[in-house]
Amino acid sequence: MSAFPHLVVSPPGPKARELLKRDERSVSPSYSRFYPLVVESAKDCLVKDVDGNEYIDFNAGIACLNVGHNHPKVVNAIKNQCDRFLHYSNTDFYYEGVISLAEKLAEISPGGFEKKVYFGNSGTEAVEAAVKLAKWHTRKQLFIGFISAFHGRTIGSLSFTASKPTQRRHFFPLMPGVAHVPYAYCYRCPFKLNYPECDYWCIDFIDEFVLQKYAPPEDVAAIVFEPIQGEGGYVVPPPDYFRRLKKLADQNGLLTVADEVQSGIGRTGKWFAIEHWNVEPDIVCSAKALASGLPISATIASARVMDWPGGSHASTFGGNPLSCAAALAVIDVIREEKLLDNANKQGSYILKRLSEFGEQNPIVGDVRGKGLMIGVELVEDKESKKPATEKAREVMIRSWKHGVAIVTCGVSTLRLAPPLTIQRGQLDGALDIVEDVVNEVAKEG
Ligand SMILES: Cc1ncc(COP(=O)(O)O)c(C=O)c1O
Repeated sequence: MSAFPHLVVSPPGPKARELLKRDERSVSPSYSRFYPLVVESAKDCLVKDVDGNEYIDFNAGIACLNVGHNHPKVVNAIKNQCDRFLHYSNTDFYYEGVISLAEKLAEISPGGFEKKVYFGNSGTEAVEAAVKLAKWHTRKQLFIGFISAFHGRTIGSLSFTASKPTQRRHFFPLMPGVAHVPYAYCYRCPFKLNYPECDYWCIDFIDEFVLQKYAPPEDVAAIVFEPIQGEGGYVVPPPDYFRRLKKLADQNGLLTVADEVQSGIGRTGKWFAIEHWNVEPDIVCSAKALASGLPISATIASARVMDWPGGSHASTFGGNPLSCAAALAVIDVIREEKLLDNANKQGSYILKRLSEFGEQNPIVGDVRGKGLMIGVELVEDKESKKPATEKAREVMIRSWKHGVAIVTCGVSTLRLAPPLTIQRGQLDGALDIVEDVVNEVAKEG
């Protein structure tokens, strides 16, 4: 593979089309496929499809391949573990990988206090565990969540998910007791206020209109939030937001749960995104990039909070040996290759380049992000800020057809989340393509 896109046939090519037909006949239609990219192999920041087309990967398998596809150290760690043993149920017995990974996660996650870690298999399981733990520890039943949040699709986490009606439609009743409040989406403030004159009214609102009116703090276990909303549109709250939220939680005796399934493991240039706000949550949820594509999740809590007894929560495969080996290697690679620095460096470059581009382009409404978690929100025009949903979709499809695999999030936001290994040359190659496509779509009106 070269470092740049290389298209040999207009995608989807004949082999891809054949597989799509088979997929349609036998695979659940519930998946939300963005476009018909059928992957054959991948290496670092490039993905090759079954017809031989090569794309620069701005998705990183949806924020999972932070160290790049098939990093040799990760692959070796998995192979070595394969030769030793594949499974022995961490629920019922012991092995070192789980213990070492728990120690490392305690070290790299926010909070100078003692921690303990629960292992599951997916992001949604990390959130389920956090919710159950908060209930167990506090003996309370109510929660506060956020509008536009995404926390997963099993019934507990789905009770917090609120970014698209299709995720919840016909699945009620969900877990009772979750009050959803507006998130700090300053570009489209739900209260129609402006930052900073608003003085964080969205925090006072939770106090005055939720805790003081209908969710008595004595019955609220926790506030569950994404430090940067992912599926909801790569939305970044302003600088003092989480300090104020944590203060409100502390004053009312509520736990804080940071869902870092998408934003964690270096994605934003810190191990966990909440560090940008200098806040130490009681519970942090991690998954996606943790084992570079192998299934694992971690619910990391202060040891004070993680006080549940044997048998209260477990999972046969949670923390399986292959995923633990991969995750330990991922953490080493991020350290050795200084990928947090690279995420910050390349992320700042993208933000600057796209902000300047956006000033000249009529449909770029907002460019935001931290590290390599960057959103570009498209609008019909900058005055009305009407979301350009169809245009964003068109930019996504055409970018892919020109060799950059990119997807959308929120209502009309392009999400840029390449591997943290990406270098300037490849970035520029991809951004040239995406900018050309945005210009083209903007001109078409
Ligand atoms: C913030 C966040 N939480 C939870 C999840 C659910 O993760 P999974 O699909 O592994 O269950 C996601 C998935 O996108 C996510 O972005």
